[in-house]
Order: sequence, then C-alpha cells, then structure tokens
Amino acid sequence: MRAIHPPVMRPIRFMVVLVLGLALLTFVAALVVQQTTRTWFENDVKLRAELAVHGARPALVRHWDPGHAQPLGRLLEEITRDERILAAAACNADGVVLATTPEYPGEFSCAEIVDHVESAEATSATTWTTVRSIPSGEVHLSAVPVYVEGQPIGFAVLVHDLGFVARRDAKTRTFLFAAFGFLALAASLVTIVAARTSWRGWSAELRRFLRGGGHRPEFQPILRDVRELVDRLVAESEADREGGAWTAERLKQTLRRHLHGEQVVVVSNREPYLHERTPEGGITVVHPASGLVTALEPIMRACSGVWVAHGSGSADRQTADAHGRVRVPPGEESYAIQRVWLGAEEEQGYYFGLSNEGLWPLCHIADVRPVFRGEDWARYRAVNERFADAVCDAVDGDDPIVLVQDYHLALVPRLIRERLPRATIIMFWHIPWPNSERFGICPWREELLDGMLGASILGFHTRFHCHNFVDSVDRFLETRIDREQSAVVRQGRATLVRPYPISIEWPSRWTAAVPDADECRASVRHELGLPADALVGVGVDRLDYTKGVEERLRAVERLLERQPELRGRFTFVQLAAPSRTAIEKYRELNETVERLTDRINARFGRPGHVPIVLLRAHHEPASVVRYYRAADVCYVSSLHDGMNLVAKEFVAAREDERGVLVLSQFTGAARELTEALIVNPYDLEQASAALAVALRMSVDEQRDRMRAMRALVAEFNVYRWAGRMLVDAARLRSRDRLTDRLTEPVIAIAERARTGTTSR
Ligand code: G6P
Repeated sequence: MRAIHPPVMRPIRFMVVLVLGLALLTFVAALVVQQTTRTWFENDVKLRAELAVHGARPALVRHWDPGHAQPLGRLLEEITRDERILAAAACNADGVVLATTPEYPGEFSCAEIVDHVESAEATSATTWTTVRSIPSGEVHLSAVPVYVEGQPIGFAVLVHDLGFVARRDAKTRTFLFAAFGFLALAASLVTIVAARTSWRGWSAELRRFLRGGGHRPEFQPILRDVRELVDRLVAESEADREGGAWTAERLKQTLRRHLHGEQVVVVSNREPYLHERTPEGGITVVHPASGLVTALEPIMRACSGVWVAHGSGSADRQTADAHGRVRVPPGEESYAIQRVWLGAEEEQGYYFGLSNEGLWPLCHIADVRPVFRGEDWARYRAVNERFADAVCDAVDGDDPIVLVQDYHLALVPRLIRERLPRATIIMFWHIPWPNSERFGICPWREELLDGMLGASILGFHTRFHCHNFVDSVDRFLETRIDREQSAVVRQGRATLVRPYPISIEWPSRWTAAVPDADECRASVRHELGLPADALVGVGVDRLDYTKGVEERLRAVERLLERQPELRGRFTFVQLAAPSRTAIEKYRELNETVERLTDRINARFGRPGHVPIVLLRAHHEPASVVRYYRAADVCYVSSLHDGMNLVAKEFVAAREDERGVLVLSQFTGAARELTEALIVNPYDLEQASAALAVALRMSVDEQRDRMRAMRALVAEFNVYRWAGRMLVDAARLRSRDRLTDRLTEPVIAIAERARTGTTSR
C-alpha cells in the first residue's frame, strides 16, 4: 500500500472539516427553510379559512340555530368542496355543536375549542388556529368567529389537510440534501486537486508567472492565454453578478452587446409627454395615465432613440420643431418624440372609433359590445400608414429595431416590413387577446392578423393570450404553425409568439421623489379631514369600464353593511382619471360612478365623514404615489386586464412593507403577485370579506406578503421585460443575417445560371 505523503494530510483534514461544516450548514438551512415555509403555509390556510367563512357568512347566519342542523350541515359541506378542507363544524357561543360534516373528527369538540376562541378574541386575534395529528396525517384547525352586528354568535371550525405542506417540506429537504451532496463532492475534488498540485510544487510556479514573473520566453504564450482566460472569467463572473438585477445600465449594455448599440424606435399612439396649454396661458407637461407609457418611458431613457406617437397635447405643435420633433424628458433630454399630427376626423375614426369602440371591447370581457364601422376601418388603415411612414423616416439604415405598441397599430408591422424587409420588428400587445370565436366577430380579422404577422416577435402578457392568438391565426389565415417554437410562418417568414409579462421601473424615480409613508399617511389624512388613525383604502384608474370601478364601490358598500364598526372609520379614496370621454360608454360610466358614490355616501356618511371620496381628475405620478403610501389597502378590481401596472406600482411604493393589495383574479398581475388577496371582483361577498381581512391583517403578515411581492417586482422589472425581448430579437437577427449570408451566394449562382453568365 502506498504511504500517504505528509503534505497531503493537511488538505485531507481541511476537507473533512469543510464537509462537516457544509453538513451543519445544510442542516440549519433545512430547519430554517422548513420553519419559514411552514409558518407561511399555515398563515395562508388561516386566511383561506377566513375568506371561506366570511364568504358564506350571510347563509350561515340564516341557519345558525340547533333546529337547522340539516341546512347548516349542507352549507358546511359546500364549504368543504375546497379540495384542501377536510371537514367543518358550526358551534354556538357556548361551545355547543350546531352541525358538522360527516368526516368531522370527534376529538375536536366545540366545548374544547370554545375556550381558545374566547381567549383569542380577548387578544383581538379573532381566528384561533392550531395544528393537530389525526390517523390520516397532520391537520390545521381554524376556528373563525361568526358575528352578527358586531356580536359573536359562535364560530365555524374548518379542518384543513396539511399533507401538502409535508410533501413540500420533503421536496425542499431533498433539494437541500442534493445541494449538500453536490457541494461536498465539489469541495472534496477541489481539495484533492489542490493537494496534488501543491505537492508537485506547481502552484508556486503558476503564482510566480501570474504575478508577471514569467520571463522565460517559452512560457510567454501560455502566460498570455492564462491572462486572457482569467480576464474573460472575471468579465463573465461580473456579468453574472450583475445578472441578479436588471437595471437601466444593464439594458443599455445588452443593447450594445447583443444589438451593437443599434438605434431603437418605439411607435405607439400615446406619447410619453404631452404639452398642454394652461388656463393662465402657460404650458405644462403632462405624464398621461397609461400603463404602456409607464412601462416604456424608462426603457427609452435607457436606450435613447426615437419614440413616434400621436401629438395630442394642446401645446404639442408649439413645443415641437418644424418636423414635429421634441427632445425629452424635459430637463434631462435623452431621446426624441416624433409627433404624428392627426386631423379631428382621423382621430375620431382611428382612435375613438376602430381602436376604442371596436378593438378595445373586442379584446376585453367586460360586457360591452364592440362597434365596427366601415369608415372607422378606412381611417384606421390610413392612420396606420401614416405611423409606418413616420417610423421609416425616423430610422437610420435598412435594418432598424422597431418596437410597435398595442392595438392602435396592428397594421404597422406589415407596413414597415414591406418597406424595410430586414428590419427587426417587435410588436407588443398590451391588452388581452380574446379566444378565436370572439375575435372572429371582427369584420377585418384577416387583415389585422396579417398586419401583426409582419413582426419578427409578437409579445403578449401571458401564455394564455399567446395561445388565443395562435388559435385565431390557425382558424382564419393560411399559415404554418410551429407549436414547438411557438411561431407562425407566413409567406416563408416566421413570427415568434411569446409571453413577456410587462412590469415597471425598479427602483421607480417617482417613489424617490415622494416623502416616506409616515408623512404621506399623515398629510393625506389631514387633507381629507380624517383622524390620524382612520383606515384608508385606495383605487387608482382611468375611468374605464374594464377596471371594475362600479364593482369596487359596491364591494365597499357591502363591507360597510357587514361591518358596522367600520362606518365612520373607513374611507375609500378613488382616484379616477377621465378617459376617452368622447365615447358614450365612458360618459355613461362617469355618471354611474358618480351616482353610486352619492348613494353610498348618503347611506353610510355621517356629519364630517363620507365613506367614498371620488377624485375625478388626472393625477400626476408623484401624487398617485402619495396615496399609495397613505393607504392601508389598495383594491385593484379589473374585470379583465392584460397585466395592470397599478398593482405593481402600489407594491413598489410601499418601501415601508405595509399595506395590503386586494387584486382581481382577472388581471395578468394576479399570476405574479400571488401574495396579494386574490378575489373575483364580481363576487361582492368575497371581495368585501377580503377587504375586511386586509383591514385587520397583522403588521407581520403585511410585511411578509409585501416583502415577497416587492422582491418579485424588483427582479421582474421592466428592464428585464425589454431585455428579454431584445435578446430574443438579437438571436433572430443573427440567425436571419447568417441565413442571408448563406443564401446570397446560392441565389447569385442560380441567377447567373438563369441569365447564362459565368463566373470568372
Ligand atoms: C391601455 C392601453 C394603452 C393606452 C392606455 C391609456 O393601457 O393598452 O395603449 O395608452 O390604456 O388609454 P389612452 O386611450 O388614454 O391612451
């Protein structure tokens, strides 16, 4: 047997210590992760129980009597339809059982639980919870008090299966132990290699050379290679580290690295800065209320270039040069807006007519019928041509990168492609895409689809909308669908159809410009004439029927009906930016919202206090952030929304990690912000229960939820959104250029063969 050489002994000891250290670390990490996720799941289960009981409360109360055991039992069974609720019981305030579901475990008697519920109520922790074991595994018990006019009449006990937590724990453990195994193996290998290297005296030699001591000419080439390698590794690891967060700088570098800094041209209907005349005869700059603008403006600041858009401000002509150009942002000019001027008839047919009376309701499920008029379509086509012309005038070279935005400009990708076949065109659709059956009612469906397929990449917020689009294409156009690549091939050219969920700037420049939450809380309450401890909810929208403003106000009304103790204590502030008011449906909505507000205020208002404050005006972004920061709860109740950036803006504004987001399940944002209280805005019982839960939520839970959502928005910010699209575009571009280079000679040979010329 070979003797172990003494210098190897030290590394082996080191290796053993390292592996033991790693084992200890893994063990501790496993414990911490398990504990944290468990608390989190248990909190979630508790919240689900509260929502279930609050939702069913009116029906429960109706049968809350020992004589109604049967209907009460049926109601409990209804609640246990949720796959994770195993059983339920209803107990009166004296701990007497009123009804149970058949599977309810006998050992959890009402008489035993009533003491715990009373002591939980005494500490205002309302719902009492515990975890117990039964033969089928661990279960979570939540005893949720049931109130009538503020008085407890008993409680409902819900038994949740905790098996899923155990399964997730097991998965986490397996992952951690696999990571440990991998690390231990890697550490052992590195140690052994290092030991052998040092034994042979190589490391000293290598170090000497890396320090520049390699004077021997035969080592010079190796040394150069090693240095190059090290430089590359350092650069790559820096890029990786930077990879943690997408920033404006990283986006700029991506553009430089992947697209060689080529100019970006954005084209949209709405411009990022409107110049408006003031009543005093001056000019003011307005930031329009538009998710599209919120998302794209930081991108243009980072990338420079030109933004082509409709010049719709009353002082826009006055502030632009003779070509309709103006450099923005005011005072920090870094890119240009190229304004397109539209006549009143053009605006009527293209913007109000086809775009907002036709395509907008076509794509949103909000019970408003689309209106399609032939003259609007003619204007839409003509205006799309004008935008395409403006883009072609604005670009340098024949292969620009053009980002076409939204439903106003569906024909623009094809129109640009016809003029600039080598352009990289990315079209992003900011609103939902309907199913093919609904889309099929549009008289110009083929033309719209074909127009969009002029793009190289077509982006939607969700995979679901991508599928709807591909299905529509499949149904109405002659194309080849490559489902594997998620692409549509038409006339030999492919369009990738991909989901790119949009987001906001992080960190936002507006949050930095506004005082902290304590100050905003105090100043907003003062302004509204409310006491310092008043509870405040906030809603922020354009006045659009897709935003569910009516449903939101009705949910507040229901909340005040159900929770009399909130009357006089809770105020809901609705910031409502007037929008598209030339359209009748929008004018009707304005009136309905006003009537509803008056009715609720008449029902629940008191001298000196109204429950609903309707602020119908355009609010600049900094003012919106103030309200976000002042609010205890923000309710986003869209009936259908591609993404909804208000939800993300609220999260971004809450640096204090307080405030609760109640979010409609019909927004794209609900797929990402899962720590919000997700509701169906049409279900007023559920929505008002969620508002009640939000207003009672402990500070710790608010912090946990807000922290998780903030981490998500920080990581998946708008720079990442744009970066991913640009990187995909760059890949396509290199592929197309390579194909061009390979096919050009073949075409040239074929051409020579056809004309009979020979090459020399
Ligand atoms: C939605 C659309 C945007 C539009 C915004 C505001 O978010 O997707 O394209 O800019 O609404 O609407 P407006 O008609 O005022 O531009």
